[in-house]
Amino acid sequence: MKKRKISNICCIGAGYVGGPTMAVLADNNPQLKVTVVDINKQKIDLWNSKDLKNLPIYEPGLSQIISKNRDKNLFFSSNVSEAIAQADMVFISVNTPTKKKGFGAGFASDLKWVESSAREVAKYSKGHTIVVEKSTLPVKTAQTIKTILLAYEVRDNRQNKSKSFSILSNPEFLAEGTAINDLQKPDRVLIGGDDENAIKLLKDIYLNWVEESKILTTDLWSSELSKLISNAFLAQRISSINSISALCEATQSNINNVSKAVGMDKRIGPYFLEAGPGFGGSCFKKDISNLIYICNHYGLTEVASYWENVILINKWQQKRISKIIVEKLFGNLSEKKISILGFAFKSNTNDTRESPAISICKDLLEEGCFLSIYDPKVKREQIKNELKSQKITDTDDYFKKNIWEKAKDIYEACNNSDAIVILTSWEEFKNLDFKKLYSIMKSPCWIFDTRNIIKPLEAKRNGFNIWKLGDGF
Ligand code: NAD
Ligand code: UGA
Repeated sequence: MKKRKISNICCIGAGYVGGPTMAVLADNNPQLKVTVVDINKQKIDLWNSKDLKNLPIYEPGLSQIISKNRDKNLFFSSNVSEAIAQADMVFISVNTPTKKKGFGAGFASDLKWVESSAREVAKYSKGHTIVVEKSTLPVKTAQTIKTILLAYEVRDNRQNKSKSFSILSNPEFLAEGTAINDLQKPDRVLIGGDDENAIKLLKDIYLNWVEESKILTTDLWSSELSKLISNAFLAQRISSINSISALCEATQSNINNVSKAVGMDKRIGPYFLEAGPGFGGSCFKKDISNLIYICNHYGLTEVASYWENVILINKWQQKRISKIIVEKLFGNLSEKKISILGFAFKSNTNDTRESPAISICKDLLEEGCFLSIYDPKVKREQIKNELKSQKITDTDDYFKKNIWEKAKDIYEACNNSDAIVILTSWEEFKNLDFKKLYSIMKSPCWIFDTRNIIKPLEAKRNGFNIWKLGDGF
């Protein structure tokens, strides 16, 4: 069946991808009705909240786009079946985390949410529906979705109802913290599929704001695989530069100087060469783990172990930082207060999934210190849940013991503390008032800068001992 025109879009999953992606799509396509649905009713209520400060995710520029388009051509709803039934095109933008148990645990993607979305589309859709994979998926997942949809197609058509589907892969490349800009001005839009008509209809939607030269069409499997590989390459660069940060510390050289010199080679380029406490976020580790799983599945064990090292270096970098902090503080953290500046996995987001702060805080708590944690966008409850998910040894009644707090600002976090650890590069941490901080902290006081954002000479002048990642001077 051929579709002539798209008027109504449904997106399943109102998360970090579904919400911003559909907001930008609706903003650039006022002729379309876009409905974002989610099984999490509380999340939908937050997307609909009058006070835009209560949107479930923080992204610069997002609240303006929501306020401009919400309830005009952009809707958030928990009525999944109704939105699917009305849609000509359904985006699947649900979570695809790593499996926690069963076959492939720790590596394979858990496709339970993708499969349930496919079943919902199969059940509730009417006429011809174009199904677009937006979630990041293992190569060949479109085949699973196709098989589910086809089974319903056959069953429905037996009852003389006519239902049919086309499947496209349209992976998302936005990064959190810059999502709106990435969506408005993408480096490329990738569309994979074998139905030329469906590809054209999706392409036409993007053409309303993206230059044609940036829209790449390809086959389904290459599209699915390209997304995994893009993330793997980005993460590989971070592990590469992080491994060299340790070498810089050992050889009296400086990682910023090395990054700059290396990145000026056009063939290498300057991006993703910032050393730090290791990559966090919900996707890099998950997508590389999935890549490793797929390689092993096809018997490519050498390829799998090559990529495994990207994850190993990432874990090692976080452990290395925790060890350095303990060593510098005389090998003993008990009775000490440590101020953690930043808990989100990167600046300009409230997302803490896989944040390096989680494992570093765990290591420090296990050494017996008290942590005062400040992050401008992460709520106390979220930090509590992340810490709770860690099995911290020797603290059975962990939450009865008063071993951490969420501070309301930098100064509350640093009052009477022994050391500051910067873990996220929030703007407000770049110009710390060292004079004031020195006056409220204990002596000797330390600052550990894992993001290379402080002015070291100023900190030293004001009495701080400093340790900067990758700085061997
Ligand atoms: P998320 O967890 O923030 O959001 C997913 C949402 O889907 C959740 O709110 C969940 O309740 C909902 N959901 C799950 N099953 C559902 C169902 N059957 N019906 C309705 N709603 C359902 O996840 P995310 O960060 O938005 O990521 C989504 C996908 O996009 C993942 O595959 C991820 O790898 C990929 N991706 C994420 C990013 C990112 O920056 N977060 C960027 C590019 C790609
Ligand atoms: C990443 C990719 O950049 C996106 O293209 C992709 O769509 C997304 O994953 C996804 O699939 O989820 P994101 O994780 O949101 O986006 O953010 P990044 O900017 O890539 O940062 C990831 C982690 O790497 C952060 O912890 C960040 O601090 C760290 N990082 C990044 C560095 O340590 N150094 C750098 O030079 C860059």
